[in-house]
Amino acid sequence: MIKTLNAVPTKHEKLVQWVQEWAELCKPEGIYWCDGSKAEYDRLCDEMVESGLAIRLNPEKKPNSLLFRSDPSDVARVEGRTYIASATKEAAGPTNNWIDPVELKQTMRGLYDGCMQGRIMYVIPFSMGPVGSDIAKIGVELTDSPYVVINMEVMTRVSPKVLEVLGTDGEFIPCIHSVGKQLAPGESDNGIWPCAPMEKKYIAQFPETREIWSFGSGYGGNALLGKKCLALRIATVQARDEGWLAEHMLILKLTSPEGKVKYVCGAFPSACGKTNLAMLIPTIKDWKVETIGDDIAWMKFGKDGRLYAINPEAGFFGVAPGTSMQSNKNAMISASKDTIFTNVALTEDGDVWWEGIGYDAPGKLIDWKGNEWDAATATEKAAHPNARFTACASNCPAIAPEWQDPAGVPIDAILFGGRRPSTIPLVNQSLNWEHGVFMGSIVGSEVTAAVISDQIGQVRRDPFAMLPFCGYNMGDYFQHWLEIGKHEGAKLPKIFFVNWFRKTADGRWLWPGFGDNSRVLKWIFERCDGEGQAEETQIGFLPTVDAIDRTGLEDSVTADDMKELLSIDIEGWKKELAGIRSEHYPKFGDHLPKELLAQLDALEARLG
Ligand code: GTP
Ligand code: SPV
Ligand code: MN
Repeated sequence: MIKTLNAVPTKHEKLVQWVQEWAELCKPEGIYWCDGSKAEYDRLCDEMVESGLAIRLNPEKKPNSLLFRSDPSDVARVEGRTYIASATKEAAGPTNNWIDPVELKQTMRGLYDGCMQGRIMYVIPFSMGPVGSDIAKIGVELTDSPYVVINMEVMTRVSPKVLEVLGTDGEFIPCIHSVGKQLAPGESDNGIWPCAPMEKKYIAQFPETREIWSFGSGYGGNALLGKKCLALRIATVQARDEGWLAEHMLILKLTSPEGKVKYVCGAFPSACGKTNLAMLIPTIKDWKVETIGDDIAWMKFGKDGRLYAINPEAGFFGVAPGTSMQSNKNAMISASKDTIFTNVALTEDGDVWWEGIGYDAPGKLIDWKGNEWDAATATEKAAHPNARFTACASNCPAIAPEWQDPAGVPIDAILFGGRRPSTIPLVNQSLNWEHGVFMGSIVGSEVTAAVISDQIGQVRRDPFAMLPFCGYNMGDYFQHWLEIGKHEGAKLPKIFFVNWFRKTADGRWLWPGFGDNSRVLKWIFERCDGEGQAEETQIGFLPTVDAIDRTGLEDSVTADDMKELLSIDIEGWKKELAGIRSEHYPKFGDHLPKELLAQLDALEARLG
């Protein structure tokens, strides 16, 4: 028996036994059951400051906040080491890494054996979605990382109420996590971020048995298992079976000057603007945006045939670089206290700094690697491009009052988008649901620093912004989206494609983005009401040049710019479609819905 350090707070025999079995394999010094209390959070923070893993920021600058520096090899999601270990390779599909689950479990058990020596195993009972609501899912994460514990306590709902809901036999999704670095007797981390080398990292999802096993990374989506692993990869499988949607989407509430409300979801790949759009401050008069969620949406049909969305998370794990009072004031305020910073730079007065924070570095810094950094001589960035802040949703000034409503909010519009310097227009409305699903299936975007990759900056296909997050065959996932469109009595959201990232030939942004994206939201709002000027074109409904409100922007975005942003680049589209026909779609073989091939044929025919 491995000793339990505090009282076991549940009579759920299966859970207690499961914890004990894993403890016996991982061999921690002891087991600690987390209650999510402030006292527990504060104590873990103090311990990590004491051990040198965390730096407490100046309370006058950033009250109740810590800075962590991860190992330079452990700075983002590791898609190359992420597996959908379904019973067959075909079930995982062509876009996921696959290993036979029996084999993978054997390999990973070998790695887990003794991996927590010298550490504590924390048991984190958490709820994705409001505790006790019908729509919520309960997980229990075992981890040897106190950094993971405090992040999970911000990002999910951790409290004794979760165990109450579980009762003595409730269902939970088992999530195992280890940083994969055991300590010899008397050894400590000496303030160095523990993790395992790349070839020993595994982020494994077992879809049939709804299990998550993660080994070797302490960072973000690799380690905070409620987020991408549970609320997306496992949830997509449940959603497919049960007729709903688990998506990589922000959710926002848009209120017009007349007080009319619409709810909008948006799927953009990692580090492509979800947090920014969700918290946007409109630059057009009397329009209002409020935040429901910034990364994940679960959508189910209501009795009225509308799709209702909830945000299963309780915090934001947001990209720091580029976030400023100008670009995203609400995120800056959310992260102004009670925040965990990872891989940003430290100022001399105990505050944080990153590239794009909106002002020059105030003197010398300590960069994300822990080295002295001086703007005058620096050759590298002070903050890692995927540096993040972990902040509570309740600290966001723009959080919508209904953000925790278990009933969810009825969605009027769904946006798809990516980072595309050319071809893809600023905004384009799909002709119908099927055409919208087609557009979602062909999303392309430049790879960002949110993933460890040697392809950063290159355009890749990221269908529905779900390439790294779909827990089953992506071809079947396309089919699932088509089925959603056939739901009896469905009153479906309108689908739009957006691109804030168009550049001129000399590399200038064609569109100012950020708060000015409200201008595009306004047109979308109007389109949902059957208004808004649009022209039916080969690629969809495009706004007429004057349909997007440019009041106050006339000088920075000229009529010519607008024309370019809304033009159809026939040659560019033809190239795009040729690649989809020859490389993207063939990957899915007979899992590719024939409707999508028909959409591709029709679009090619329209382009002539
Ligand atoms: P994940 O958390 O990785 O899923 O990312 P995200 O989709 O929430 O992206 P986020 O909003 O954090 O934006 C990532 C980067 O894109 C930041 O550096 C932003 O400054 C930049 N960005 C966001 N919106 C815009 C925009 O409208 N225009 C431009 N040019 N950049 C933007
Ligand atoms: C993303 O990469 O889409 C994120 C960050 O939201 S992580 O939680 O690390 O996946
Ligand atoms: Mn994300």
